[in-house]
Amino acid sequence: MLQELKESVTYLKHKIEDFKPEVGIVLGTGLGGLVKEIEVSHSVLYASIPNFPISTLEFHSGRLIFGTLQGKKVVAMQGRLHYYEGYSMQQITFPIRVLKALGIQYLFVSNAAGSLNPDFKKGDLMIISDHINLQHESPLRGINDSDLGPRFPDMSQPYNRELIAKGLKIAQEANITCHQGVYVAVTGPNLETKAEYKYLRIIGGDAVGMSTVPEVIVANHAGLPVFAISVLTDEGFPEDLQPFSLEEILETAAHAEPKMTQILSQLISSL
Ligand code: HPA
Repeated sequence: MLQELKESVTYLKHKIEDFKPEVGIVLGTGLGGLVKEIEVSHSVLYASIPNFPISTLEFHSGRLIFGTLQGKKVVAMQGRLHYYEGYSMQQITFPIRVLKALGIQYLFVSNAAGSLNPDFKKGDLMIISDHINLQHESPLRGINDSDLGPRFPDMSQPYNRELIAKGLKIAQEANITCHQGVYVAVTGPNLETKAEYKYLRIIGGDAVGMSTVPEVIVANHAGLPVFAISVLTDEGFPEDLQPFSLEEILETAAHAEPKMTQILSQLISSL
């Protein structure tokens, strides 16, 4: 992987000249609007970057956006990669390795997720305070390269405590309903059955989704502080489970997205 990483980083450094991103941002399903807030310096298609996997979803555009957000130099992944698309865990987390090698010091992640907690309603936001990985594989499986991180990375605090506290404060001051809770990662792409939603709640989940955890594991391996936030786009309450609709998910995400963008921008500006 080190050789591939070198190729991608060399290519990107040439493309972005002396731009040095401090903050990496991964934008989730229907949540690409933060890009509008970025004063863009360079935009690079995933497809043009050596060794970069390409998003197979038509609603996830695949490009790296380099620019300035609230005075901070950022690089945003517009379009993330999911395990259910058929990529390996190493492939979907490769971009995080690249961003780290380009110099980011923080990773911010967003996603769309289903609520499991009856007190967390569709359209609310949830800052992720911890997670449960039900994606039966770790992106760190295989020979460990100690230049990238330790063999057995600690996961006692995978989401940065100070950033969580700041994020909650920003939300409160802006009158935005924002919870904190446990995100459960499943592989998808099928949604959960009623029995599965019930199970995910029993084991301690507040929200469920098909992403984020692989990137967070790799970020922790790489020593990056992480902040992650979910937009709750549907309710996985077994007693009253509605059929899943992608249109509704995207609509809810679009509706909640300005609130999420506000929290992320303010948080990034405070770094
Ligand atoms: N389950 C899994 N992934 C999801 C959901 C869900 O209910 N909502 C959005 N992504």
